[in-house]
Amino acid sequence: MEINGKTKVYGIMGNPIEHSLSPLMHGMFADALGLDMVYVPFHVAEGQIETALRGAYGLNICGMNVTVPYKNAVLPYLTEVEQRAAAAGAVNTLVHDAREDKEGFIGYNTDMGGLWRAMHEEGISLKGEEVIILGAGGAGRAAAFECASSDAKKVYLLNRDAAKAEEVAAKVNEALSRYGKNCVSAMALSEYPKLLTGAEHRYIVIQCTSVGLAPKTAEAVLEDGDFYHYVKYGYDLIYTPWETKFMSLVTANGGVAYNGLKMLLYQGIDAFEMWTGCKVTKESAEKVYQAIKDKLYV
Ligand code: ATR
Repeated sequence: MEINGKTKVYGIMGNPIEHSLSPLMHGMFADALGLDMVYVPFHVAEGQIETALRGAYGLNICGMNVTVPYKNAVLPYLTEVEQRAAAAGAVNTLVHDAREDKEGFIGYNTDMGGLWRAMHEEGISLKGEEVIILGAGGAGRAAAFECASSDAKKVYLLNRDAAKAEEVAAKVNEALSRYGKNCVSAMALSEYPKLLTGAEHRYIVIQCTSVGLAPKTAEAVLEDGDFYHYVKYGYDLIYTPWETKFMSLVTANGGVAYNGLKMLLYQGIDAFEMWTGCKVTKESAEKVYQAIKDKLYV
């Protein structure tokens, strides 16, 4: 493509950023629609996030993605944080604030919307379901908020560090109290057998810890086959490797397992559509999905 004075600039900020698939995805979305835009990976050094945001705004960068380790760190420097991102405590998408009296970006979170779109595509609904979330880090908190604010009946938030699970569950319940909801319960990871005794149903489980991520692919956050016997759908937010140990345990015990690659795709589509006002077609989404898959699993 030819870059000229009218080319719109977008990008992603993170550290490390070298392996991000977002430039490939957004480049393909833009090409399919013939949009004059570029999407650049920006490596932001530790302690430089505020400066980076000011610079991005000053340079008229139209929109940004934010990735590890800045999803939470950007919050104080935004002109506004959308409710979903505020409750999740994490922002992954920035939109140029067009209001005259504001200088900066508005923060959104398309990660979890991406997960729901991926689930929806598989025909999975949370209506009336009991959901177990493994991990109470940034991803676990966002997942807990999303499940609790949807029509899931009950959300169990399990974490190795039980105090952290308690703290996160309290925050999510507080954020949802205005809707009269209080359905998140915190537990220590080691307490999982409590969820199995007397359970007549099977759970939807969302794996939000870093356990099993390449190169440590031989690990799963819970290894007990008894647990997996109670899992009907297992979602791992990890997408390298293609099939994690968690996923193979789900499948081996009669459940259906998914990795996080579709979520990655849809969080990107949601951000792109928000920035450009254009719709990514199903064909384009499929092409991009194949391209990121080819890139990851050669
Ligand atoms: P993210 O933003 O991706 O969620 P994070 O905030 O660093 O990342 O959270 C990592 C999650 O993986 C946490 O829930 C962490 O549990 P602790 O809060 O107890 O540390 C979980 N995790 C990492 N290694 C783990 C392990 N070996 N066993 C169990 N949980 C683990």
